[in-house]
Amino acid sequence: AVVKYIDTNDNVTEVEMEAGETVMSLAVNNMVDGIVGECGGAQACATCHCYLDESLSKYFSPRSEMEEAMLEAAPERKESSRLSCQLELNDDLPDIEVRLPASQY
Ligand code: FES
Repeated sequence: AVVKYIDTNDNVTEVEMEAGETVMSLAVNNMVDGIVGECGGAQACATCHCYLDESLSKYFSPRSEMEEAMLEAAPERKESSRLSCQLELNDDLPDIEVRLPASQY
């Protein structure tokens, strides 16, 4: 399966999933623009902000309180906002797409 990263101009970057990675680390490892992941996945920076469609949320664990708190501080917070470092990938997932905010700061 793949993760599709879609930027605000609808440019799609498709990356083959790797179990054990997260949507954030997969993006960073493959130099996908638009995901920074400054804190390395510690829910402490929100530079891995992405939007996950409601229909895909069932594949991932729900937001923790810490994630909620970080997202509060993120620009362009939406209903579908997630920290991509909290979206863990495994071999059972279908193709996933996430949308990226215009800016991570
Ligand atoms: Fe910092 Fe996700 S990488 S909060």
